[in-house]
Amino acid sequence: MTANENRAEFGSTLGFILSAAGSAVGLGNIWKFPGKAYACGGGAFLIVYLIMVALIGTSVMMAEFTIGRKTHKGAVGALKELNSKFAWIGGLGVLTGFIIICYYCQVGGWAMYYVVSYITDVQTVWADPMAYFLGMLGSNGLPVAALVWALVFLFLTAFIISHGTAGIEKMSTILMPVLFLLLIGLMIRSCTLPGADEGLKYMLHVDWSTINGTAILTALGQAFFSLSLGMGVMITYASYLSKDDNLVSNTGIICVLDTLVALFAGFMIIPAVFATGIAPGMGGAFGFATLAGVFMAIPGGQFIGMLFYFLLFFAAITSSTSILEGCTAYLVEEKGFERKKALVGLSIVIAIIGTLYTLSQVYMNIKGIWISRSGLEFPIFGDFLEYLTDRLLLPLGAFFTTFFVGWIWGPDKSITEATSDGKYKFALAKPYAFLVKYVDPIAIGAIIVAGMVFGMNIS
Ligand code: PHE
Repeated sequence: MTANENRAEFGSTLGFILSAAGSAVGLGNIWKFPGKAYACGGGAFLIVYLIMVALIGTSVMMAEFTIGRKTHKGAVGALKELNSKFAWIGGLGVLTGFIIICYYCQVGGWAMYYVVSYITDVQTVWADPMAYFLGMLGSNGLPVAALVWALVFLFLTAFIISHGTAGIEKMSTILMPVLFLLLIGLMIRSCTLPGADEGLKYMLHVDWSTINGTAILTALGQAFFSLSLGMGVMITYASYLSKDDNLVSNTGIICVLDTLVALFAGFMIIPAVFATGIAPGMGGAFGFATLAGVFMAIPGGQFIGMLFYFLLFFAAITSSTSILEGCTAYLVEEKGFERKKALVGLSIVIAIIGTLYTLSQVYMNIKGIWISRSGLEFPIFGDFLEYLTDRLLLPLGAFFTTFFVGWIWGPDKSITEATSDGKYKFALAKPYAFLVKYVDPIAIGAIIVAGMVFGMNIS
C-alpha cells in the first residue's frame, strides 16, 4: 500500500547492523537466556542452543532479510506482494509480536525500577535481594511500583516510535558497545567470586541426559526470540535497506553479536547464582536478585549496578520499539489507521494485558513462596504467554517463513536478493538453499510436534 519510493532507509550499514542488533539484543539475552540455560542443565543446553543458532537461526534470518529487502514492505505487505495467498504468515507474526510486547514492557519497567532503586535505595536492595525483587512484584501488597514503571516503559516505547527511529540508531551506536564492555567486565567479576567455580562447572559440564524434547524446543524458541525471528520484525527492518547493503555479512554479524551477548550474560549470572546462593527458583529473579551478589562484591558496585540496569533498560527498549513498530506498521500500512491513533489504541490494550501478566507473577508464580493475601488467583498467565509465543507461535512463524521461501517463492530468488543480484559473495548459498527448503521446515516442524508430545513443563 505504501509507495516503495517514499520508504525511509537506514543511514548506513553500521546503523542497520546496530539497529537490528539492538532489536535482537534485549531481555531475551540477559533476562531469559541464563534462566533457561540453568533450567535445562547448563553445558549440553549451550551446545544445543549454538547448533540451533548456527543452522536454523542464521538461515531463518537470511530468509526474513531477503523477503523484506526484496519488497521494501512490512511483514504482511511483503508476503502479500510475493504471493497474496500467504499474507497471513505476516499476520501471524504481527499477532505474535503483539503478545510478546504485552509482557516485554512489564519486564522493561522492572529494569527501570531497578535503575531508580540502585540510585536511591541500594541498601534495601542489598539487605535482602530476593525479598526486594518479590516486594517489587507485590509480596507486600499490590505491585504498584512494577505496574507504574511498566506503564512508563510502554509510554516511552510508544513515544519513540511516534517520532521515528532515527534517534535509536544514533543512541545504539554509543550504547551497544558500552553494554558489551560492561557485560564482559561483570562476567569476569562474577566468575572470580568465591564459590563461582561451581557455576562455571555447571555451565561447562555437558550432560546429555538433560536434553529432552522440552529442552530442544526451549533452545529453539529461545533462539528465535533472541534473534527477533519468526514474527516479521526482521522482514520489516530489512525493508528499509538498499541493494548496497550486504545481507550475507550482516546476517553473520548480527547472529554472532546476539549469541555472544547471551553467552556473556549466562556466564555473568550463573556463576553469581552459585556464589551468592540465591535460590534460582523463579525465572524472573535471574538478572534482578542474583546479580546483587556481584554488585555488592565490587568497588563502586552501586554505580555499576545502576549502569547495568540502565543498559538492560536500553537493550529492552531498542527491542520493544522494534516489536511495537511491527504491530503499528501493520495497522497503518494495511488497515489505514493514523499512526498516532494506532499507537494510542495499541498502548491501551497492551497496558491492560501487561498488567494481568505482572499480577499473575504475584498470584501464581510466587504462590509457592507466599500465599496471596487477596485470594485472587489467575491461571499461569505469564507462563502461558511465554509458552504460547516462544514454544509455539515463534517456531510456527519461522516454519511458515522457511516453507514459503523454500517452496513458494524459491531459494534461488532469495539467494539472488541476498547477493544483491550477484554483487556480493555468498559462499554458503547452496547450504542455505538446502537448509531453508528441507532442514528448517522439517526440523522446526518436528521440534514443535515433539515439544507438544513430550509435555508442557515450563522451563
Ligand atoms: N530479540 C529480543 C530480545 O532478545 C526480543 C524480540 C523478539 C524483539 C522478537 C523483536 C522481535 O529481547
